[in-house]
Amino acid sequence: MKAIEIRNKYLKFFENHGHKIIPSAPVIPENDPSVLFTTAGMQPLVPYLLGEKHPSGTRLTDFQKCVRTNDIDEVGDNRHLTYFEMLGNWSLGDYFKDESISMSYEFLTKELGIPSEKLSVTCFAGDKDCGRDNVAFEAWKRAGIPEERIYFFEKDDNWWIAGEEGPCGPDTEMFYDTGKEKCSPECNPACGCGKYVEIWNNVFMEFYKDKNGYTKLKQQNVDTGLGLERMTMLLQGKETPFEIELFAPVMEKLVKLQKEDLIQSRRIVAEHLRSSMMIINDGGRPSNVDRGYILRRLLRRMTRHLNKLGIDLNILSEIIDTSIEALKELYPELDTNREVIKSVIIGEKDKFIKTLQNGEREFEKVASKTKNAGKKVIDTDAVFNLYETYGFPPEMTEELAKEQGLEVDMSDYQKLFAEHQEKSRMGSEQKFKGGLASTGEMETKYHTATHLLNAALKVVLGEHVHQKGSNITAERMRFDFSHGAKMTDEEKQKTEDLVNEYISKNIPVERMEMKKEEALALGAEAMFLDKYGDIVTVYKIGDVSIELCGGPHVSSTGELGHFKIKKEEASSAGVRRIKAILD
Ligand code: ALA
Repeated sequence: MKAIEIRNKYLKFFENHGHKIIPSAPVIPENDPSVLFTTAGMQPLVPYLLGEKHPSGTRLTDFQKCVRTNDIDEVGDNRHLTYFEMLGNWSLGDYFKDESISMSYEFLTKELGIPSEKLSVTCFAGDKDCGRDNVAFEAWKRAGIPEERIYFFEKDDNWWIAGEEGPCGPDTEMFYDTGKEKCSPECNPACGCGKYVEIWNNVFMEFYKDKNGYTKLKQQNVDTGLGLERMTMLLQGKETPFEIELFAPVMEKLVKLQKEDLIQSRRIVAEHLRSSMMIINDGGRPSNVDRGYILRRLLRRMTRHLNKLGIDLNILSEIIDTSIEALKELYPELDTNREVIKSVIIGEKDKFIKTLQNGEREFEKVASKTKNAGKKVIDTDAVFNLYETYGFPPEMTEELAKEQGLEVDMSDYQKLFAEHQEKSRMGSEQKFKGGLASTGEMETKYHTATHLLNAALKVVLGEHVHQKGSNITAERMRFDFSHGAKMTDEEKQKTEDLVNEYISKNIPVERMEMKKEEALALGAEAMFLDKYGDIVTVYKIGDVSIELCGGPHVSSTGELGHFKIKKEEASSAGVRRIKAILD
């Protein structure tokens, strides 16, 4: 069965069981700067798990595009992926354990045709926070799983939460028995030997966890997740996801093109390419911070492994085409956005080649120096110097070191990095102050508030909002922007609240220098484009705002205090003016 058939069967099955099919959220979460990427189907649904009414009702199903990057360095083995698709179904205070388990069993055995003997399941063993899950146990027995294939485990294995705080609960997990020998007499689904492969996780979310412990939610929810690539691989009798139709054409193309036969490198290229395309397709762009940095890492790692394979990097465009062809049935948007995706990937590749050449040469020197000195560890200063002078990312230094049997000492890296950032920030403020001697503390705060207001207006009124002018004194700010109508009281309130929310999150304000085209590709706001030279300064406030600007700015938004709109009025045709203060 192909991945697309499994997805369609899944959605249809749950639709037949009263679920509404909802669209996948983007891999880049909307309005949630606290997480880098969407990591599970439940993530966009958190408010509804907590009790808010979902417009599509209490039974939902979808496929969710997910990115998980904590195992980025494991990619290349036979199972890790940074991008994957999660099929899910949810009960928002509707059905609970019995119905959830009987539907899962029916789907696996009847729709997918998995023989019941191939299935083992695990349930929560119980502890001081929550009792043993006998309800799930009974439900599995009723469905047709004999007792000897029902296992009980503690929180480590059978409790699910996204991160440290949020809705959570005991889960029951389904495992596929590959038929391999048990690795030991005790071998069971919790053992990582590969005999049992986890295929589906049903979480019974009736708790909320915060730093004080667990409380009960208003409603009993079900949250499930089934990994599409893994299921496809198992049903096709394949050993790795790289052999299924979503990757196989790229893997085969790489074999044809390669000069060195390196399976890990082929997997890394195929996987990172797909992941990068999905991120770019949802608006991600390479940069030196947060999501942009992860994307940069993925693309740079991919490029390095293409190099290792001895593949001519000018063929990248063809490899992208092959990957899009393999994926477009699942994600037609990749086909639509093909040109943008290509230009971002190829642009980043070109930039990286230069870095790579210089950095690798320098790395070789450092590595032989380390070895000649009889050491096994490259010291922090050298790692940092490779970054600072050659733009060589520390992860890459580490990876190269590993290939030569060396390690890297990262102990002081963060400290050096922070010092470096502070130095360049001070340098630029000095420069700026040279030109604008009167920029005091309050003016600086208002300056940052202008960026937050600009961003908030875009959220509340729409993307047509652009800055048309501003005027700042130590007492107040004035901000002119494009918008055709008087703002309603509600819009004003929302805008004010949003700015205060950004302030309360105490988001760091980052200063970066880059080429103008690069800044624009990142979606930076720019008021007078022609005013800027080829290299521009960009201020980025988390995921809230990115603007071309000379500064100066506060170092994080918490410094601003409380933001208040005093007046909203017409400035000229199609332009409105807001006067606001910080107190
Ligand atoms: N949220 C659950 C998971 O990601 C289903 O495994």
